[in-house]
Amino acid sequence: MNILLTGGAGYIGSHTAIELYKAGHSAVVVDNLSNSNPESLRRAGRIVGREIPFVRADVRDREAMDRVFGENRIDAVIHFAGLKAVGESVEKPLEYYENNMNATFVLLEAMRSHGCKNIIFSSSATVYGDPQIIPITEECPKGHCTNPYGQTKSMLEEVLMDVQRADREWNVILLRYFNPIGAHPSGTMGENPNGIPNNLMPYITQTAVGIRKELGVFGNDYDTHDGTGVRDYIHVCDLAAGHVAALKAIERKCGIGIYNLGTGHGYSVLDVVRAFVKVNGVEVPYSIKPRRAGDIATCYCNPAKAKAELGWEAKYGIEEMCRDSWNWQKNNPEGY
Ligand code: NAD
Ligand code: UFG
Repeated sequence: MNILLTGGAGYIGSHTAIELYKAGHSAVVVDNLSNSNPESLRRAGRIVGREIPFVRADVRDREAMDRVFGENRIDAVIHFAGLKAVGESVEKPLEYYENNMNATFVLLEAMRSHGCKNIIFSSSATVYGDPQIIPITEECPKGHCTNPYGQTKSMLEEVLMDVQRADREWNVILLRYFNPIGAHPSGTMGENPNGIPNNLMPYITQTAVGIRKELGVFGNDYDTHDGTGVRDYIHVCDLAAGHVAALKAIERKCGIGIYNLGTGHGYSVLDVVRAFVKVNGVEVPYSIKPRRAGDIATCYCNPAKAKAELGWEAKYGIEEMCRDSWNWQKNNPEGY
């Protein structure tokens, strides 16, 4: 299939492009580069031995999207494009609602008018809020999202399901990602955050390489085995492969599908720090800081549905995630 990747120059999209080509698909990327660098796609192209077609455009630009659909036969869309920083979304709610909602509306209208009715959407474990069931299954009710970013994911899930209910020819897959970390094993591609990282792993790697003085561990008084927050970290290449598996379900005309993409294992902040230090033989100085507003104690999934229905499961463990994150950071201390 030929797949349109919105936001495909970003962290998850660029790794997914590689998995698509490896599986015999091809891709076209549309990205406005608001949080990415096209070098990611050049490097992905080197890995797959093909130049990955890239259009610099905003998904909210209907004319540009019409051109993309007019000039390419698109069989399905993987919709990664969106703003994703939780804290920033609290400070700039309007920017987040405007970008994430409007980009999806314009995309869906362009898809409809060009007869493309297959979409995979990047959703997030954040839609479960403070989860009522651990490990989280897809049946766990959606919770109250404490930030505008999470609200956009939750609302867009509803929009996409309504579109499918109104026209059963649509196939809509909602992939709820847990915590993607790691990088391509080549060490040439990885996560490239702007400014001070919000997320744990890039903060750890930047501390290990000397860009940051020490990691702040946000709270050690949670109800977890060591008091620090527990998450379901998943290697970005495993996550990318989950999209290839979801495309097979679209080929089988799945209607609506909702899947957790995680490993099913929960690791605390200190578990991750210890694994990183052990695997890579580097120091990660840290100190305990107050809890971060909006954080929950524990979030990990039951990934059985994705295994049963998509035939997908994560292959990499926490040690490989730590190894590949470090390999990327130490080879590319300034990012792309
Ligand atoms: P990323 O920021 O690296 O990639 C998103 C890309 O979208 C960027 O390249 C950005 O330039 C682009 N973009 C944003 N708005 C756009 C617009 N209007 N038009 C065109 N391009 C636009 O983020 P990522 O980590 O690769 O995340 C991809 C998707 O997965 C996002 O939707 C994100 O919300 C979701 N997600 C990410 C995580 C995570 O922890 N990384 C977890 C759950 C869900
Ligand atoms: N943490 C620290 N110090 C840091 C950064 C994070 O101790 O400098 C802790 C957090 O408190 C949390 C854990 O590390 O306990 C993971 O935090 P991240 O910020 O890496 O990830 P979150 O689970 O908070 O959120 C991420 C994405 C969201 C997404 C969610 C679920 O940022 O967009 O995973 O997929 F919704």
